[in-house]
Order: sequence, then structure tokens, then C-alpha cells
Amino acid sequence: MATERTFAMVKPDGVRRGLVGEIVSRIEAKGLRIVGLKQMVISRELAERHYGEHQGKPFFEGLVGFITSGPVVAMVLEGENAIKAWRTMMGATNPADAAPGTIRGDLASTIDENVAHGSDAPETAEREIGIFFDAAELLD
Ligand code: RTP
Ligand code: MG
Repeated sequence: MATERTFAMVKPDGVRRGLVGEIVSRIEAKGLRIVGLKQMVISRELAERHYGEHQGKPFFEGLVGFITSGPVVAMVLEGENAIKAWRTMMGATNPADAAPGTIRGDLASTIDENVAHGSDAPETAEREIGIFFDAAELLD
């Protein structure tokens, strides 16, 4: 048993396109437990912290501009190997490479607007959950 938590997000394109219900449905159907969920607009400062690892890369400014361009739905998911499970459900970063049946494979078409985010490792999950949620906002 390796119950763990991960940070998940429906990005602004997913909210604009009305895909929140579809994505939450997939999470529930998979059996991951939603222990935190809120809609919010990400500030520039929060975006730069969240994507700190990409600072200096050519796509960084566009990424920050995009992620702050409208409301997102931020979530904390809990379950068996939740980090890998959610990454697998999302599919490859570039929707052109994402398998059918994955969120990006089914619902996205460009790498810049790829509908969903998920933490990529335990340390990342802990950091991202901490910058988006207070402990009091999460279920026990
Ligand atoms: P995310 O962090 O958004 O869940 O995506 P990811 O782990 O699958 O990909 P990551 O490498 O962390 O990149 C973050 C976001 O930056 C954009 N990106 N563009 N043009 C490029 O080469 C490139 N590489 C990454 C994508 O929108 C990606 O989701
Ligand atoms: Mg990433």
C-alpha cells in the first residue's frame, strides 16, 4: 500500500472549454479521492513559484501568461500511487504524443494548452499542495 497525495489542476483552457465536469468525472471513476478542490485565478507571483523549475526556458513567459489567463480548478487527489496514476490519466505533455483514452489524448491538441496539470514526483506534490492549499482546506 502506498497511499499518497498529488496536486492536480484543470488549466484555464479546460475551464474555458467547459471540461471541469468531464475531468472530475474521470477522477471519481478512477477511484481517486478528492481531498481539496477550489476554483481560483492564479497570480503572477504564484505562477512563477509553481513553474519555478522552468524559469529561463524559452516557453516560460508564455506558460506564466497562459496559466494566469483565467480561472483554474485546483485539486488535491489521494489514493494508491496517486502521483503516477494521475500523470498516466493525463497522458503525455504534448497532446500529439498522448494516447487515446488519456485526458490530453482525448481533449487537447496543443502543447501550450494541454488542459491539465499534475505533480511529477513526491517532492513536487508536497511543494505544490503547500503553495495552493492551507492544511485547513483539505480533508483529513
Ligand atoms: P505540467 O507541469 O503543466 O503538468 O506539464 P508536464 O509536467 O507534463 O510538462 P512540464 O515539462 O512540466 O512543462 C510544463 C508546461 O510547459 C509547457 N511546455 N512547453 N514548448 C515546449 O517545449 C514545452 N515544454 C513544456 C507545456 O504546456 C507543459 O504542460
Ligand atoms: Mg510539470
